Amino acid sequence: QVPQIVLKLLLLGDSSVGKTSILVKYINEKFDESSISTVGVDYMDKIIDYNKFKIKLQIWDTSGEEKFRTITKNFYRNADGLLVVFDLTRKETYDHVRGWINEAKENNDKIKTILIGNKLDLKDERKVENGVAKQFAEKNSLKYLETSAKDGINISESFKAMIDLLFDGKSEEEILNEFKKQDSSLSVVDDSIEVKNKKKACC
Ligand code: GTP
Ligand code: MG
Repeated sequence: QVPQIVLKLLLLGDSSVGKTSILVKYINEKFDESSISTVGVDYMDKIIDYNKFKIKLQIWDTSGEEKFRTITKNFYRNADGLLVVFDLTRKETYDHVRGWINEAKENNDKIKTILIGNKLDLKDERKVENGVAKQFAEKNSLKYLETSAKDGINISESFKAMIDLLFDGKSEEEILNEFKKQDSSLSVVDDSIEVKNKKKACC
């Protein structure tokens, strides 16, 4: 039996930058122009083959809206990896990246982070230069990728880069020891929090 490794990933960033769109594109290979803003936290998973491993990615998609901040904060603690997303066409979403990263680090100093500039397809509306974001990423030792959830550019690559980062320099044995976990996809959920789960669809 192939050992299953469970990795918990968290999507963070301002509202409307395209977190849900990136996730839906990755999982369902679909894009929706009229994606609905996430309420609190959403969850999706995907099992992938990675080298000799079967990896279950548990991906937590948070709302970027301020009013849900107290809920989303609860999810930092148990995450292995963080994908911080901003919108290449809205400078303020890039300016907020540092805040998102700091907040996550305050709650989980071991978390590994990747920075994503999304909506690469909107070339004429671009407000954040590649070089600027790249330089910020380099200074902060972050990997930086530019994506389009709409056109499906760099979507699976971003998740692959995240796994590479989590496994970086580790032997197979170390990986197994560190990441082989019980599948407890809802373990990070406080009782007080209601999570819209694709398996436990509510309402
Ligand atoms: P919250 O859930 O409110 O935090 O927002 P979000 O980050 O999940 O954003 P969401 O995925 O809902 O996308 C917001 C809007 O941007 C939607 O209308 C999407 O269709 C659009 N969008 C997302 N990604 C892209 C992209 O790569 N290109 C373009 N052109 N539009 C995108
Ligand atoms: Mg969303």
